[in-house]
Amino acid sequence: MTEHVLAGVAWPYANAYIHAGNLVGAYLPADIFSRYQRLRGRAMLMVSGSDAHGTPITVRADQEGVSPEVIYRRYHRSFLDLFQKMGLAYDLFTSTHTENHFKVSQTIFEALRLNDYLFTKREKQWYSTTQQRFLPDRYVEGTCYICGYEGARSDQCDRCGNLLDPTKLINPRSKLDGSTPELRETEHFYLDLPKLEDDVRAFLEARAPYWRPHVVQQSLGLIRSEGLKPRPISRDLDWGIPLPLKGWEHKVLYVWFEAVIGYLSAAIEWGHLTGQPDAWEQWWLNPEARSYYFIGKDNIPFHAIMWPAQLIGAGARFEELFSGRAPGRPLVLPYDVPANQFLNLEGCKFSGSRNWALWGLDLLERYDPDPLRYYLTAIMPETRDTDWYWEDFFRRNNDELVATWGNLAHRVLSFTYKHWGQVPEPGALTAEDEALLAEVRAGFQSVGDHLEHVRLRAGLQEAMRLAAQVNKYLERRAPWKRIKEDRADAGTILYTALQAIDWLKVLFAPYLPFSSEALHRTLGYTRPLFGRQTVREAHDALGTHEVLMYDPADATGRWEPQALPVGQALHKPTPLFRKLDPALAEEEQARLGDPPEDCVGKR
Ligand code: MF3
Ligand code: ZN
Repeated sequence: MTEHVLAGVAWPYANAYIHAGNLVGAYLPADIFSRYQRLRGRAMLMVSGSDAHGTPITVRADQEGVSPEVIYRRYHRSFLDLFQKMGLAYDLFTSTHTENHFKVSQTIFEALRLNDYLFTKREKQWYSTTQQRFLPDRYVEGTCYICGYEGARSDQCDRCGNLLDPTKLINPRSKLDGSTPELRETEHFYLDLPKLEDDVRAFLEARAPYWRPHVVQQSLGLIRSEGLKPRPISRDLDWGIPLPLKGWEHKVLYVWFEAVIGYLSAAIEWGHLTGQPDAWEQWWLNPEARSYYFIGKDNIPFHAIMWPAQLIGAGARFEELFSGRAPGRPLVLPYDVPANQFLNLEGCKFSGSRNWALWGLDLLERYDPDPLRYYLTAIMPETRDTDWYWEDFFRRNNDELVATWGNLAHRVLSFTYKHWGQVPEPGALTAEDEALLAEVRAGFQSVGDHLEHVRLRAGLQEAMRLAAQVNKYLERRAPWKRIKEDRADAGTILYTALQAIDWLKVLFAPYLPFSSEALHRTLGYTRPLFGRQTVREAHDALGTHEVLMYDPADATGRWEPQALPVGQALHKPTPLFRKLDPALAEEEQARLGDPPEDCVGKR
């Protein structure tokens, strides 16, 4: 039976451009993992979209004197552009501002309400007297009442990682204008997390043995130290998803409550767009399906606690309400949340506002996607925070990507193309030839094992190690000399090297899809490894939205050591990668300008 795998990728806020920290934290790892799963023949669904609601967008819109929709569309467009150029092959990248997402979110709300996991409460909330509106939690800053950090957001402390009770914040101030807000009464719906705590804890404990330790620590630690408190899930705002309840339509669902529901609604929308409206059930109602959530560590509480709580609480009731089928089946809970830590830049934290950042679209103006993907994977912050150093980027590009892999492929292909024009017919393989092939063949197991467990850095390193083995083999066997003495023997050596390169092409493909695809063509294959990315328009009651999709078309890539056909015609090779002038590092550093003053990095 086909195994169904879902990759839920963090939904970028549609009010800022995407930088390398976002790419390395969530979007790129999701793509690498998903491409691998597709090569494995799994039924892969990678979904995400623009996080279109919430106050940041309304604030931005106010500043520019336009509607929030204008803001959301501008950034949404830039995401589609970046993801295509970077080769991030979402099966569907949509948005939370769709009729389908509204309906699915409202149904989850309704399921939770009917299952008695919601209650209403009149409460005090921070109100800005200068702006005459309630301030959302993230616009109120002050001192964390748990750890004393002075720059805490009222709902979450970035130092101790705890979710906070906003009204307990010490020394509150409005982030918008610095004024001191006052507490005013309003009424909201709450998610009854204490009622769900035992289930969420059991969910986490069952997964703790194989989750990344820092993810387990943050999520289980939170429950064990403090226990779960009820969380409000509605807001006084006019941009977002209205509560589906009479008398409450002027309030909207809290943006975090509904954005995570996007993982479910996007799967449903994907089914509609591909003409298989029930297909989502294979990922969402099938107990064998596995779902992985690719996020940065700042999103851990929302994905490891809140979202599972919502899924557990809505449970079988969702299908009953949504599809009218009873009894319904429970919704699939996250299998893994391989959250990444943070990427820093030259020893300092990324800061979009101070422009200490590497913007995705900007990087792609000067560099090809694969070298960027290579370096970002090599420094991926899987277990601890890491740094992008420009010098390191050039060094790794030149000494690893170009020297070990690009040159290997180019040298062997150019020479074989020139002297044979096709895959040479081998004579009997020597023990050395066989040993090399056995070693590279084992890469499908070893690299695959790393990818399967979302150890992407280790997988890439292992593939590189194998490429280095092929280089050593060629140094020993030197077909460029051998051809003068024994052409047939040189042909055998080149056949062996080409076969190894053909397999390496697959091992590298999840990481370096553009160059693997190019190499695949040069090796004479006519059908591609992967499908195509397409942008199309979708229409609904809220208007038109553009979506990015992945069309598997005639993709033929397989995670298997397939035999390179003897006699297959080769194409004229072009180098896979370019050597970059290391002197450019200084230029790039200069482009960054001065580091932020609060940076106490290694600079
Ligand atoms: N917009 C959030 C961020 O960029 C991520 C939201 S993930 C979601 O940090 F699932 F909630 F959408
Ligand atoms: Zn704190």
